Amino acid sequence: MRARPKILDFPPPRMEGDWWKDRILCGNALDILRAMPAASVHLAITSPPYNVGLDYDRHDDRRPYEEYLRWLAPFWAELKRVLVSGGRFALNVAPTSIKDFRPIHYDMAAQLRGLGFLMRTEILWYKQTMRRRTAWGSFRRPSNPHIVPSWEYVLVFSKDSWVLPGDKANADITGEEFIAFSDGFWPISPEKRGRQPFLDGLYPSRRGRKNPKKKKEGHPAPFPEELIYRLVKFYSWRGNVVLDPFGGTGTVAAVAARTGRHYVHLDLSKKYCEIAAARLGGGVSRRDGSPLAS
Ligand SMILES: C[S@@+](CC[C@H](N)C(=O)[O-])C[C@H]1O[C@@H](n2cnc3c(N)ncnc32)[C@H](O)[C@@H]1O
Repeated sequence: MRARPKILDFPPPRMEGDWWKDRILCGNALDILRAMPAASVHLAITSPPYNVGLDYDRHDDRRPYEEYLRWLAPFWAELKRVLVSGGRFALNVAPTSIKDFRPIHYDMAAQLRGLGFLMRTEILWYKQTMRRRTAWGSFRRPSNPHIVPSWEYVLVFSKDSWVLPGDKANADITGEEFIAFSDGFWPISPEKRGRQPFLDGLYPSRRGRKNPKKKKEGHPAPFPEELIYRLVKFYSWRGNVVLDPFGGTGTVAAVAARTGRHYVHLDLSKKYCEIAAARLGGGVSRRDGSPLAS
């Protein structure tokens, strides 16, 4: 079992050598990215707050739309700086709201292409959330019917070059996985607040009753591990550095560690950093019951 990583509050007392590598770094990701060396990351994967009013621990998720886009812009610039040439950025994002539709995936793609990122592709993460639909609009009438998005996107970019050099001994994707993942339609169920399996280890049931903290303390928007596993295996070599600047419960870090990559986990919230550290400590398990960081 892997030792529980220490959380480093930013700024740490010393920033020598690879102070940022295999770390849970707690603080404003923009400050941390600015302190990281250029060309140090091979793959960044993230899902920023979508500005839809979720109740994050430390982040205000409701601000005027233009201000929200302006807030994100410097993160993209710093991400580009810390990526190696050929490094990738996989951005999970979805259009927000049904009635007041905002194509934030178009706006973010425009921001990133404006910075000179090469857009490689878009993956359609089919979440199959139609079963829980309630917002029909004008049901059975064409006056104002609503499309309910049952999917999100993963927009994938490269810095400078399409090619990420690596040693073929460090290519660890199987032929079967490659064929499956190269079809850009990924049906994967979403993860839900309080349902992540590792939370059982953090908030165990008491006298046969579910611990209410599990739901309350859980994160409102965690990634499913399968989504991250596919991105990590498809877009990086074993031994690469994988970063999530809005790391939340540490899904990217946990999958990176499990697949033999280095991780860099950033989040503003001490609470989420604690969850990520416990998860990476390996005392908690994946959905199939096997230890996360083995
Ligand atoms: C959509 S969630 C990411 C969840 C994550 N993908 C997971 O699997 O748990 C966005 C995260 O961004 C964090 N955040 C918001 N503003 C931040 C900032 N300035 N610096 C670092 N993290 C920030 C929030 O605390 C939140 O955990």
